[in-house]
Amino acid sequence: MLRISALRLLGCTRSGRVSLLQESAPRYYGSCPLGARGEVRDGRAYFTTPIFYVNAAPHIGHLYSALLTDALCRHRRLWVPGAAATRFSTGTDEHGLKIQQAAAAAGLAPAELCDRVSAQFQQLFRQAGIASSDFIRTTEARHQLAVQHFWEVLKARGLLYKGLYEGWYCASDECFLPEAKITQQEGPSVDACPVSLESGHPVSWTKEENYIFRLSQFREPLRQWLQDDPQVITPEPFHRTVLQWLEEELPDLSVSRRSSHLHWGIPVPGDDSQTIYVWLDALVNYLTVIGYPDAEFKSWWPVTCHIIGKDILKFHAIYWPALLLGAGMSLPRRICVHSHWTVCGQKMSKSLGNVVDPRTCLERYTVDGFRYFLLRQGVPNWDCDYYDEKVVKLLDSELADALGGLLNRCTAQRINPSGTYPAFCTDCFPSKSGLVGPSVRAQAEDYALVSAVASLPKQVADHYDNFQIYKALEAVSSCVRQTNGFVQRHAPWKLNWESPVDAPWLGTVLHVALECLRVFGTLLQPVTPTLADKLLSRLGVSATERGLAELRFLPRFYGHPCPFEGRRLGPETGLLFPRLDQSRAWLVKAHRT
Ligand code: MSP
Repeated sequence: MLRISALRLLGCTRSGRVSLLQESAPRYYGSCPLGARGEVRDGRAYFTTPIFYVNAAPHIGHLYSALLTDALCRHRRLWVPGAAATRFSTGTDEHGLKIQQAAAAAGLAPAELCDRVSAQFQQLFRQAGIASSDFIRTTEARHQLAVQHFWEVLKARGLLYKGLYEGWYCASDECFLPEAKITQQEGPSVDACPVSLESGHPVSWTKEENYIFRLSQFREPLRQWLQDDPQVITPEPFHRTVLQWLEEELPDLSVSRRSSHLHWGIPVPGDDSQTIYVWLDALVNYLTVIGYPDAEFKSWWPVTCHIIGKDILKFHAIYWPALLLGAGMSLPRRICVHSHWTVCGQKMSKSLGNVVDPRTCLERYTVDGFRYFLLRQGVPNWDCDYYDEKVVKLLDSELADALGGLLNRCTAQRINPSGTYPAFCTDCFPSKSGLVGPSVRAQAEDYALVSAVASLPKQVADHYDNFQIYKALEAVSSCVRQTNGFVQRHAPWKLNWESPVDAPWLGTVLHVALECLRVFGTLLQPVTPTLADKLLSRLGVSATERGLAELRFLPRFYGHPCPFEGRRLGPETGLLFPRLDQSRAWLVKAHRT
């Protein structure tokens, strides 16, 4: 019988590193305690998405960031139940030059643009089933309070000074750039203009007196932090990238702008001629959500896991930890980084007109279908390409045919006329392989299937821990294929319930297949919650039997009673996931136009 080790439940992986399920393990970096005992309450974890800019409508890349976080939280809640144990925050980033300029271009007041686009994000996330516990907007009063408090702490610790800042600023990326990161873009109709080498966005020369943060002081402590904990930034190539950045000089960072130039932001306390730099403002959102500066934030802060896209790695892996160390606070426990979605091989951009609207996709492919696609195909280590045919192909083959077909094969009236979870016969499928006897029917491949499905929840948990959700789904899909092979091999439709020889084996084949389906349904809940609910309800699995901590696969095989044996299946509610290629008139139409 499958039992995941208690170790994992407590959050320690065998390698001893901190897992995404973990609630507490004291680790210290110099004078900075990480997750020190006493600071952390039982079983808590805090997951965050980046907060999204409101200069334009949400696209599938934004949804992907939120979905990864949602799946991590839902998976954790299956292990550590209770809404209070797992906190999940998301929100919108509403200040800064980028928003100020976008509002001016749209002929709107910045607040009006923010209300409009923030509502679009909230609506999208509701539609996509993003089960966040908090949605923050940086224009809220509670956030201004937190940011100004954080500023005062940095100031009191002698980490801010006034100085002349001179250099390039990229409003689209909201960042300062050194000369070496600038190139000249030639256009057919325009004169060459300076742009950021990395993003290609225009930059402008800035020369003004600003407040400056002593970032350079933190190069060594940051290096130490990353060297001591090689898993803090996942996947590993991103960890390496940050260490490489830290090989270079780390200049101090300008953290304010003249208010006459940037008025849409939070004023520097005691000096409203200056506005706080939008990245400092934005990063503090992670603290605002958990109640900073009130002491209550401490019960969540050390157990933080930030999910971010690769383009904002420097802000989260260098600036943010340096600011936190500067403020005398502990560092986030994990930073999980994902790559980007391109569309038909090209970067998504408004000017190319190839931005994929996630709302249309959710309608076309269903919420569960599109969630499954993005999480099954999205590989954090590298960019992934989107095109419609790929979605149809994947969903038809994995959800409609393989999973839906399997459920149908084992529950259809003609094969399972009693509509129950049939009994498992230990004589037909003894727990020891290789036995021979008149009633033994199980073959070597059947033992391989049982062993694969028995180890699946642990494998899936490991993949979630390593921020490789696509691998978890790949593993489930491979077991679904193996289970279909099992059913195909034993062709239960050729066996007869009336025959005393066939009946125990027929029941056993269906029992094993239904047990596999129960494991698949349980494991798919974080990614396809509605489809998993439909599947588990059809199997007669009640709401209290869907957790991962108490999941026991095929107990009869291991000599234990099975609570499902003989139980009535749930009502038939139609196809689990209808094939899309039969309803793809829209696709043909889209190609003609
Ligand atoms: N506002 C900042 C984040 C501040 S967090 C303190 C920001 N906003 S964003 O709207 O531009 O991006 C939000 C997230 O969406 C980032 O994680 C970013 O990587 C992600 N994506 C933006 N385009 C993307 C793709 N094409 N594909 C996948 N994710 C992408 O940065």
